Amino acid sequence: MSRPDVLVVWPILPDQMRQLGECYTLHRYDEASDKDGFLNGKAASIRAAVTTGGHGFPGDLLGKLPNLEIVSSSGVGVEKIDVAACRARGVPVTNTPDVLNDDVADLGFGMVIACLREMPQGQAYVKSGGWARQGMMHLTTTLSGKTIGIVGLGRIGREIADRARAFKMRVAYTGRSKQDVPFDYVPDLIELARQADVLMLTVPGGAATRHLISAPVLAALGPRGWVVNMARGSVIDEPALIAALKDGTIRGAGLDVYWNEPNVDPELAALPNVLVYPHHSSGTVETRAAMSQLVVDNLAAHFAGKPLVTPV
Ligand code: 8YV
Repeated sequence: MSRPDVLVVWPILPDQMRQLGECYTLHRYDEASDKDGFLNGKAASIRAAVTTGGHGFPGDLLGKLPNLEIVSSSGVGVEKIDVAACRARGVPVTNTPDVLNDDVADLGFGMVIACLREMPQGQAYVKSGGWARQGMMHLTTTLSGKTIGIVGLGRIGREIADRARAFKMRVAYTGRSKQDVPFDYVPDLIELARQADVLMLTVPGGAATRHLISAPVLAALGPRGWVVNMARGSVIDEPALIAALKDGTIRGAGLDVYWNEPNVDPELAALPNVLVYPHHSSGTVETRAAMSQLVVDNLAAHFAGKPLVTPV
């Protein structure tokens, strides 16, 4: 039997690429400089596409692949994949939920500790010789007893909430509806921001959450409040964030994601009250392997006529 043709829009980890290579004929679209030329003569043979959440799968590419059967993506976020167009064509999309929850939550809560305890500043103080020259570092902020306000209590938000409880924080959350959880539901985002010492963003990206965190929300968070963004850069109005960080409207921010990745606004990155990380919360050897394996396993399930492991 002939091997199905798979378009590699963006590769997954080498071990899983090897597995794909054993079962399918791989077409390295990612390596082609002339993308349209590359598809000439082979577009009709392509039955599956492999990509990542970061690189996505646009509707116009779907339009060039008349016999596409499935898009298998590494990453939980699918806002760069034209899921609606795929659905309309009957092409299922798979992503990689759950396997990254712990790593993303660890990094998110790590941001909370690093921000409030000013760990980067402490490191700089020692390494620069400031401690020896000037004595004790300035005082930082206690976590226990503070309120973390989680915007979007999904799978990752829940994990962050559990970590926050272990650190003796009060957990409040907002979202479409109250959940059966031992945390305080605050339906109104502005009110949540008002109550929160740390506003933790774990909502999906996309049009529905674009600029959810706007100037009035930041004003409600206030001069002792921190925002930590583990969601998508689009969720925050970034110019409003920069203004709020500069004029003391909020205390600071921990950011894993940005409006224009990887070209982070230099003004934002240079601010002393911002902790930056390069959109890498799932970026561990273990989790990226699990995510890549789900890409392989979803394709295998599809071509075996079995239910998909993690359909969107
Ligand atoms: C990845 C992510 O960095 O899963 C997601 O949605 O944002 C991260 O885990 C990204 O998807 C890699 O493409």
